[in-house]
Amino acid sequence: MTVPVAIRKNVESLRAQIRDHNYRYHVLDAPEVPDVEYDRLMHELQALEAEYSELITSDSPTQRVGAAPAASFGTFEHQLPMLSLDNAFNEVELREFHRRVVDRLGIENTEAIDYAAEPKLDGVAVSLLYQNGLLIRGATRGDGSTGEDITHNVRTIGSVPLSLIGKGFPSTLEVRGEVFMPRAGFLAFNAEATRKGEKTFVNPRNAAAGSLRQLDPRLTASRPLDIYVYSVGQVVGGSVPDRHSDVLDQLRLWGLKVCPERKVVEGIDGCLAFYADIGERRDSLAYDIDGVVYKVDRLDYQQRLGFVSRAPRWAIAHKFPAQEELTVVRDIEFQVGRTGAVTPVARLEPVFVGGVTVSNATLHNMDELHRKDVRVGDTVIVRRAGDVIPEVVKVVLGRRPKRTRIVKAPQACPVCGSAVVREDNGAVARCTGGLLCAAQRAEALKHFVSRRAMNIDGLGSKLIEQLVAADLLQNPADLFGLTSGDLVELDRMGAKSAENLLNAIENSKQTTLSRFLYALGIREVGEATAGSIASHYGQLERIMHADEEALQEVADVGPVVASRIRAFFADRHSQEVVRRLIESGVAWTEFEPQADLVNGKLAGKTFVLTGTFAKMSRQEAKDQIQAAGGKVTGSVSKQTDFLVAGDKAGSKLTKAQNLKITVLNEVELEKMLSDQ
Ligand code: IVH
Repeated sequence: MTVPVAIRKNVESLRAQIRDHNYRYHVLDAPEVPDVEYDRLMHELQALEAEYSELITSDSPTQRVGAAPAASFGTFEHQLPMLSLDNAFNEVELREFHRRVVDRLGIENTEAIDYAAEPKLDGVAVSLLYQNGLLIRGATRGDGSTGEDITHNVRTIGSVPLSLIGKGFPSTLEVRGEVFMPRAGFLAFNAEATRKGEKTFVNPRNAAAGSLRQLDPRLTASRPLDIYVYSVGQVVGGSVPDRHSDVLDQLRLWGLKVCPERKVVEGIDGCLAFYADIGERRDSLAYDIDGVVYKVDRLDYQQRLGFVSRAPRWAIAHKFPAQEELTVVRDIEFQVGRTGAVTPVARLEPVFVGGVTVSNATLHNMDELHRKDVRVGDTVIVRRAGDVIPEVVKVVLGRRPKRTRIVKAPQACPVCGSAVVREDNGAVARCTGGLLCAAQRAEALKHFVSRRAMNIDGLGSKLIEQLVAADLLQNPADLFGLTSGDLVELDRMGAKSAENLLNAIENSKQTTLSRFLYALGIREVGEATAGSIASHYGQLERIMHADEEALQEVADVGPVVASRIRAFFADRHSQEVVRRLIESGVAWTEFEPQADLVNGKLAGKTFVLTGTFAKMSRQEAKDQIQAAGGKVTGSVSKQTDFLVAGDKAGSKLTKAQNLKITVLNEVELEKMLSDQ
């Protein structure tokens, strides 16, 4: 049966449309149609291909997940070896690299070298071979000369084009890049695996590697993998531009996905500035990177520089401090938090990770401790990423010694000896000592003085612990009764620092209702909730006497939060502390919640602040928004109404723009506030 021409044309048109949408979605990051439209085109194409199977081609968008599971992977010989990179771990090593480049090229002006700088992606290197524009092979790096044939698996990655687009690509074009799993996908995958009681991955790189090496391509297809292409290999029957940066731009035009965070920089100073910039933004990128790569941009220079053994002389990886390290668990102890939660903490053989020396890492809760089966004596992977507290990722079972000690949840609080109860099906252990427990007292005080609460400068954790241990502080109200006589008795406290501290305590007295409420440390009452309650009621007395039903009228307050607030203010001890605080002079401006605040412009509106402001501090902006009935949260989501962006706004701005959230500048915010 011959296929009618109209059908043939329709199939081709559908494929062209789908490819175009794919390109816009994956490579340009700017989809033009909603997902349903894409799905509709795909279904139409599938239906036609089911009816006219002779029309199916290997590069049809329907053919990503076709192959049956393999028994093993075939091997693939790389025509040009896949090299690795030399590393520089500090500025000195980087300067040495640059010096060698300059010397070999015989260039006088050392700043005259352009480097293409790009993130060093933490994934799996792959090679993709396009013959006449069709993807015919995907391979791993292997030992550099021979890799594994993973064609069926790379085909399932949405951002890998099955056929190139545009014009003028070489008849044989091999591109190389990194397959990775974006962090969000990794977290979602692990959460789902935990829920189903299945194996989780330690980090996104392992997840990417594990997913690519599945014998059943359907499994690979179900994993959220992505790719950035970073170089070309074999090129026959055509050519590519003569600068690395232009090559990448050209690859993008042919439909391949390249990392947007790349830049051509001049000389070593340019490299260092790039390193610092990416380093600062590392945690807000959607994917893991472990450094940056600098490549001499001119390909004729690359040619002249050549290779040594397995690495090019024209490129270097400038590594960030490792975020994961191995170390040994010396002990597992229990820490008591502000709300009495008893958290297992691993005491470690000190190890340098994420740029600092780490000797403690959290094990989160008892469930985690059991799930990870961490024992005293074990060798573990510790991770410290950005400002996040260090955590034990997993035990290296192969290194488990014969004798280990299993630690059980304590029956009594390690600090005050009160009974420990189990909540949340046993996951959370909680000390019942309340403010009798010195640990809970100290934690409550640390919270009370913290920057976003009463903001008392110069009163750090160590000092609070000393004051609690010396019985000078029982609760927040005692702070305002401290005298310089009390303070100078303490270790390392001179008359001058005592005076500074007393001044800071004095200055903190003038505050806002919202800060005060937050500072009290009521369970479940975070900053945003405190802000909503404060602006809803305007006066503390009203909050203290509101019943649970009334409290739930406040935006964000549900039954749990309402009952916590009620319980807090019903407690005699809390009432006493609040009374004493006010007697000591802690004060704020009370106000009559105007209909405006409840119904007006900023009520029910959620703001996120980012960047640096010229006139007010971010905190001032926040206080003012809250006083006007608005809510301020820390991260941009669909629930955000306005992003207020100051100078040097970063990823939050990008995210807000993607979500089409209204972006205001400082002046516009001020206007909005004064319009109230
Ligand atoms: S270029 C000859 N660029 O790092 C140049 N590699 O240590 C070879 N990698 O196997 C690679 N991001 O898997 C290059 N932007 C980037 C990279 C990158 C990550 C990986 C790649 C390679 C390894 C070398």
